[in-house]
Amino acid sequence: MESVDQILKQALVAIAACEELSALDELRVQYLGKKGQVTSLLKTLGSMEAELRKEFGQAVNRAKGELAEALSARKRELEDAVLNSRLATESIDVTLPGRGQERGGLHPVTHTSQRINDIFSRLGYDIATGPEVEDDYYNFEALNFSPDHPARAMHDTFYFGDGRLLRTHTSPVQVRVMQQQGAPVRIIAPGRVFRSDSDQTHTPMFHQVEGLLVGETVTMADLKGVLQAFVNAFFETSLAMRFRPSYFPFTEPSAEVDIAWHRGDDKESGWLEILGCGMVHPNVLKSCGIDSEKYIGYAFGMGVERLAMLRYGVADIRQFFENDVRFLRQFH
Ligand code: DAH
Repeated sequence: MESVDQILKQALVAIAACEELSALDELRVQYLGKKGQVTSLLKTLGSMEAELRKEFGQAVNRAKGELAEALSARKRELEDAVLNSRLATESIDVTLPGRGQERGGLHPVTHTSQRINDIFSRLGYDIATGPEVEDDYYNFEALNFSPDHPARAMHDTFYFGDGRLLRTHTSPVQVRVMQQQGAPVRIIAPGRVFRSDSDQTHTPMFHQVEGLLVGETVTMADLKGVLQAFVNAFFETSLAMRFRPSYFPFTEPSAEVDIAWHRGDDKESGWLEILGCGMVHPNVLKSCGIDSEKYIGYAFGMGVERLAMLRYGVADIRQFFENDVRFLRQFH
């Protein structure tokens, strides 16, 4: 009987002093578990005389009940303490000012592309697209670049090694559209192009918009008129333009177009090149199955980033692709 009392006292002291839920569970096992101290006392009952057995059994059961109650009371206390400390440290201060939500916006290159598309749509041009992975035929050959044409070297082409390549310009879309729909044609073709080149004014991927118009009575004066209308609409001002003779394999004659640029003390003030253009070379029409005696056309191609840089005053093309939100946010 004394040992029951002793075990009970010891256990109650240990339970009261216990500070951890895990340690408390160990105490439960130590006393009330299958091999626990109280449980072992019950196992001695069998060898006792009937009278003693009854008294002892009741005492052990009482001790067991008292222990179980002390354990669960302490458990509740410890659980409350854990909860209270979490509530104290993890509470939300509803009086703090809110963080607000920032709005996203379109990328400046997207803005510029859409602007170009809108202007040409209003002039009656349809929008065409083509694949970014092309082959030599569409990117060069059908555009009148012969196999050893020196202009190929200027394109810094990314080759896959199996005859495929990343298109270096949007001009191959001209060929695809003419092959598919024949003449007449009036389209622009916006899209990504790729060249192995990187500095302040070049990135390995950039965007172009190609233009193509084929009909029976198309002249270079039409081309000049359309480009002047485009430039005025794009820059929202009337800008002087000049056509400078140039060379592209797929146009004859060819020209590069400069605009007269004046913006305060802008380093770039003066004549600035903004696009290439010309009358579609008869060989290109022929390779698309179009009768070059009956049809004639003009084409042009411009760099979207180049136009965006001028319009927004961005000095380094790489800023468009670094995705620094402090830069991008300015265009929302
Ligand atoms: N494809 C040329 C380039 O990437 C740009 C170009 C020039 C496109 C003249 C044309 C054009 O359609 O007629 O440099």
